[in-house]
Formats: sequence, structure tokens, C-alpha cells
Amino acid sequence: MSAQDSGHATMNVKLIVWRQAGPNQPGKFETYEARNITPHHSFLEMLDVVNEDLIKQGRDPITFDHDCREGICGMCSAVVNGVPHGGQERTTLCQLHMRKFKDGDAIYLEPWRARAFPIIRDLMVDRGALDRLIQAAGWISCHTGGVPDGNSTPIAKRDADYAMDAAECIGCGACVAACPNGAAMLFAGAKVSQYAALPQGQVEAPERVAAMIQAMADNGFGNCSNHYECQAACPKGVDVKFITRLNREFHKALALEMVGAIPSTKS
Ligand code: SF4
Ligand code: FES
Repeated sequence: MSAQDSGHATMNVKLIVWRQAGPNQPGKFETYEARNITPHHSFLEMLDVVNEDLIKQGRDPITFDHDCREGICGMCSAVVNGVPHGGQERTTLCQLHMRKFKDGDAIYLEPWRARAFPIIRDLMVDRGALDRLIQAAGWISCHTGGVPDGNSTPIAKRDADYAMDAAECIGCGACVAACPNGAAMLFAGAKVSQYAALPQGQVEAPERVAAMIQAMADNGFGNCSNHYECQAACPKGVDVKFITRLNREFHKALALEMVGAIPSTKS
């Protein structure tokens, strides 16, 4: 059944989309019409409709990243009208719906733009730099074997809640795209804080934070200069207080290095 036959009101919107055939190709904006879109279409479903039309016309569909389409995987990534994920508070692009737009609207679509995220094609970027930060963060000293008793390592509810808030990060990279410095401090702060708050993560906490700070520099991320754009763009509400924790943990690591308690933090 077509959207027109569904009985829902439909709208037409104009899309001005960044098209780029490859990492080293020049890119440019191209304009498309999205027709007969209902307010219940998600943003990505609207792009599906546009792509079906393009394919029928024998033209290249718009490349964009997605996976779960339910706000948990962190794959969807496009800047809508200048705002990563489209600017609806605590909402990923896949959960943004067309009811937020009006008939006749013009919508600009661009990829994440950051030095650490090279464009692969159209709206798809390579976010492997975030994976390399996670790899640098390493591991925790948990012994494999039987499932430990949940009560064997008591954790205060306050600490568990704090770690859970940090663990909400889905690794989408919107914080990097929103930051004028292309910094990954909110992402790294969430990961460092999540582990530093829990006994299992405290053993390697100094080495972890030192390695992540080094990896941020090595992978082309900038530094935080307190714009707070990361927090505003984050679809999971990750708070900049985790950047404060990142800095505090790093200074603790430097102090431990000075007294020779951990290996050098410099590569
Ligand atoms: S901190 Fe927020 S914006 Fe940054 S990667 Fe995590 S979920 Fe995405
Ligand atoms: S597609 Fe998974 S969070 Fe949007």
C-alpha cells in the first residue's frame, strides 16, 4: 500500500544532499525531492523512499550508515540542517521522524565532518578512529571462568548509576562532529569514567586513560575548549562532567608516572 493510500497526510520535502563518490573525490550538494512522505516515516525511511526512486531512475542511491534503526547501535550519522542527528534532544537520526518537518521544507544533509572521520562515500564516514581509541583503552583484569556471584564485589548504587550514565554512550561520533575542534573528549570521557567508577576498572585506570589520551592525539582528534557542543549533540545525554573525570584521571596517571608507579605515558 502506498503512503497516499494509507490515509495519512503526506508531504513533500526538498533534500540538499552532500554527494561524494569516494574518499579522494570532490564532493558537492545535489538536490532531490522526497515525495509522499508521511509524518510517521522515520528520517531513514524517508531516505529509503528517495533511494528507491533514484534506483528506479537508474541513478546512484544516497549512501548512508545505519544498522539497528532503534537508537542503540550508533551507526546512523548525518548532519541535518547543520546539527548532528538533526537536533531533537536525545534522539539519534534513525529515531528522528518526519513529523518534525513541514510540507515544503528544505533539508540540508551532510556527513560527519571531522579530521579523524574521513568520508567514505556521500553521508558515510570512517569512524574507525573511535575503535582505535577503544583498542588503546585495553582491558580489565577479570578472570574468566564461572559467573561470579553478583554480591561478591559490592558496588554502591551511586557508583553503579554513575557508571551506567557513562555507559550510555553508543559510539556514534556526533560529539566529534559537533565539536569545533573535532575532539573525542566526550566519547573518551564516557569510556574512561565508566571503568574508573567501578572496582573492576580501577586496576588499569591510569594506563587506560594515558593510552586513550595518546590515541586521541595519534588519530587526529582535537582538544576540548569547553564549547559544550558535544553534550548538546549527544543523542544519549552523556554529560560533560565525564570530560572533567577524564582530565582528573589523566592527572592522577601523570602523578603516578612521576613517582614511577606506572610506566611512562609518553610513546
Ligand atoms: S558521547 Fe554521545 S555523541 Fe559522543 S559517541 Fe557517545 S553517544 Fe555519540
Ligand atoms: S541506526 Fe542504530 S542508532 Fe541509529
